[in-house]
Amino acid sequence: MSILGSVDFTKPLIEHLFKTACGEHRVENKILMNVFFEPSTRTSFSFECAMKRLGGEVINFTKETSSINKGETYEDTIRSLSCYADIMVVRHPNKDYIKRASEVSSIPIINGGNGNGEHPTQALLDLYTMYKKWGNGFETKSVLFVGDIKNSRTIHSLVSLMKNYPEMKIQYLAYDGCGPDESMLKQVSEEHGQKLEEIEINKVENYDLYDVIYCTRRQKERENGIVGEPDIIVDEEFADKLKDDAIIMHPLPRNSELCVSVDSNKRCYYFEQMKYGVEIRMSLLYYVLNIKN
Ligand code: NCD
Repeated sequence: MSILGSVDFTKPLIEHLFKTACGEHRVENKILMNVFFEPSTRTSFSFECAMKRLGGEVINFTKETSSINKGETYEDTIRSLSCYADIMVVRHPNKDYIKRASEVSSIPIINGGNGNGEHPTQALLDLYTMYKKWGNGFETKSVLFVGDIKNSRTIHSLVSLMKNYPEMKIQYLAYDGCGPDESMLKQVSEEHGQKLEEIEINKVENYDLYDVIYCTRRQKERENGIVGEPDIIVDEEFADKLKDDAIIMHPLPRNSELCVSVDSNKRCYYFEQMKYGVEIRMSLLYYVLNIKN
């Protein structure tokens, strides 16, 4: 079983992974291959940490020292790497390359981020963070996505995962030029029974409406990425207007859109979010390595 997008997480699977996270899992004698063609701090190291905590081993591929520099194709590289491990996490700037990896790999592929496409395990840890905060009460929470809605793969994957929870509400507050396209709006409207015209907002009128503020940086490295400073900043003033038990999430890395001063606000939840990544990735690795394919 590969995890190429949030669509691969069914509701029973999400619930199983949430419930079994923190269990006494072991995967001795298994190897994870980390294959990152794009920079990463949290995703690569949290997968490495998760695998090691499970008792497994990790190999980190680096493009710079590989035979890609001798002209080897991507497909031959992936096919070869799949002979040396039991599971592979792949990140690539080109949206199509995760699927291409899954077509030649002999082991399960986990999408660690494909261009401006998806980042399903980040979405899983994001939803898990809400579950840890509210238990099953997360199923009726309202989320305001702030930032580069168009290019943030973490937002794309989280919205896709949230369709399993139609009572959750979604709104978008986008940076200038980074708004959702019509199909994204239509999808949210249909899946969450929200009026189309109310999903995209250009200003927060009522701060009490939101349980989660999910902020992302401007994806400057993406095609049509817009340069310059973001026109929306989550600072202490913004944070203090929110409900007392609202949480501020961010997949990180942050740029100037999320002020360091928010780190000490009681609604700051992005460091917890980051830590939950290890637990839920342990749960996922254990599951994928143990199911009969
Ligand atoms: C995100 C990513 O790589 O998509 N980071 C992450 O995995 N935690 C977010 C980003 O780069 O903006």
